[in-house]
Amino acid sequence: MTNEISLREVRTEDLPVLFEQQLDPEATRMAAFPPRAREEFMAHWAKAIAEETTILKTIVFREKVAGNIVYWEWSGERRVGYWLGKDYWGKGIASAALARFLGQVKIRPLYARVAKKNGASIRVLRKCSFRISSEDTFYGLDSKPGSEFIMILEAQGLDENK
Ligand SMILES: CC(C)(COP(=O)(O)OP(=O)(O)OC[C@H]1O[C@@H](n2cnc3c(N)ncnc32)[C@H](O)[C@@H]1OP(=O)(O)O)[C@@H](O)C(=O)NCCC(=O)NCCS
Repeated sequence: MTNEISLREVRTEDLPVLFEQQLDPEATRMAAFPPRAREEFMAHWAKAIAEETTILKTIVFREKVAGNIVYWEWSGERRVGYWLGKDYWGKGIASAALARFLGQVKIRPLYARVAKKNGASIRVLRKCSFRISSEDTFYGLDSKPGSEFIMILEAQGLDENK
């Protein structure tokens, strides 16, 4: 299974698929992250692609665009984030993609912010040796406040055999 998953650079032609994936209401509820309208989404990705410090990967499963996994810096915090299309959930793809990404991107410490109610994503991060560092409040869907964990992967935390 994991040999059917690969990561490659995000291509412009992937963006319409990634756009549809981030519109899914169940996904946005889970991540507590509001969907972007098409124009805003395309502008966001164009900026991200142009930004030198980002690392943007498309997750490919059985030759289809399953989602994305990205690295970016925000106010000095070096972060990873990922998003899968709903058709690809529950197959171990996010866990495998994150493990592979961490094998390629050796930046540590690495942070991930995850809504406390997003049990699946917390589990994915834990399996890749992230631990809870602290908590924060975010303003997500409908600008309502929510609670999130700030999770950290420290230099010694990575077991690349996982
Ligand atoms: C979160 C997300 C990335 C998970 O992707 P996935 O490919 O289904 O994840 P995996 O199959 O690799 O692993 C999910 C793990 O969480 C577990 N899980 C699923 N639902 C869970 C829940 N509600 N509570 C706790 N654990 C849960 C699964 O059993 C699995 O663990 P296991 O391998 O030990 O059995 C995917 O659902 C998604 O993209 N959601 C929308 C966007 C999002 O939330 N992004 C992350 C923002 S931080």
